[in-house]
Amino acid sequence: MKIKQAVIPVAGKGTRFLPATKEIPKEMIPIIDIPMIHYIVQEAIDSGIQQIIFVNSTNKESIENYFDRNYALEKFLEMNNKHKELELIQKIGTLVDIVSVRQKEQLGLGHAILTTERIIGKDNFAVLLGDDLIRGIQPCTGQLMKISETYGDNPVIGIMDVPKAEVSKYGIIDGTFVNGEKQTVIMKEMVEKPSPENTPTTWATPGRYILSGDIFEYLKKIKRGAGGEYQLTDAINMMCKSRSVYAHFFTGRRYDTGNIFGYFEATLNFALSDPRLKTYATELIKKLAKDLSSGKDHEV
Ligand code: G1P
Repeated sequence: MKIKQAVIPVAGKGTRFLPATKEIPKEMIPIIDIPMIHYIVQEAIDSGIQQIIFVNSTNKESIENYFDRNYALEKFLEMNNKHKELELIQKIGTLVDIVSVRQKEQLGLGHAILTTERIIGKDNFAVLLGDDLIRGIQPCTGQLMKISETYGDNPVIGIMDVPKAEVSKYGIIDGTFVNGEKQTVIMKEMVEKPSPENTPTTWATPGRYILSGDIFEYLKKIKRGAGGEYQLTDAINMMCKSRSVYAHFFTGRRYDTGNIFGYFEATLNFALSDPRLKTYATELIKKLAKDLSSGKDHEV
């Protein structure tokens, strides 16, 4: 089954990035000069997605506007002979079909996904969470789509191994390998943010899912879970008890850009792979490392 729709929840308040997020949606904060949400949308497009459904909230319209045309700016660039910039922003405005739904109360990820039921209907769809950027040769969502096709169009959750001390930040899955390469798992259970003492495994999802339309039935059945919120994890846990749900160890490097440490790490790494900045960033890092190792205090 060809998956055409992807849901990207963007309704959160982004409090970990205050004060920047007082006026700017967290998703619009750039890594170098590209907003983080652009990377997520690009992953979906590179995976073959044709329509993005943002689950949005009030005061975050700039996310939708970013993916729309901006005729006043286009005119300005044209009149000033800035053809390269014009081409760049025209391209962003025509990347993909965008639909937006409002999550009027922030009651959790499960609740956010449920708001898209009318738009998704019964088809399989992808979910990408914006706090994790994943870069690799194959887009992560595309890898999960292939696994879903291989295993009877069933749901697939993207997973990675994390240190035991960190399991309480994630949805953790348990299951048994179905292939010799030890990459794909048939799921037995999924738990939201378990404690290290009680976790079934260290297999965590960074927020990449291929789901089937029946997830909405489970989302309607779940009660408030971890953090008092309606958790997608609880609906997937219910679902994997009554139908086949797989999990897959994707390949690619993942950055946890939901906090300032991961954001900083991503910025450094993206600079090192940006042809415009690579040499400059390399020399700068070497110089700073040299200064630091010779005990020189860093000047502000
Ligand atoms: C959400 C999900 C969790 C997942 C995580 C990935 O949690 O509920 O299962 O592992 O995203 O970033 P949040 O980080 O929004 O609390």
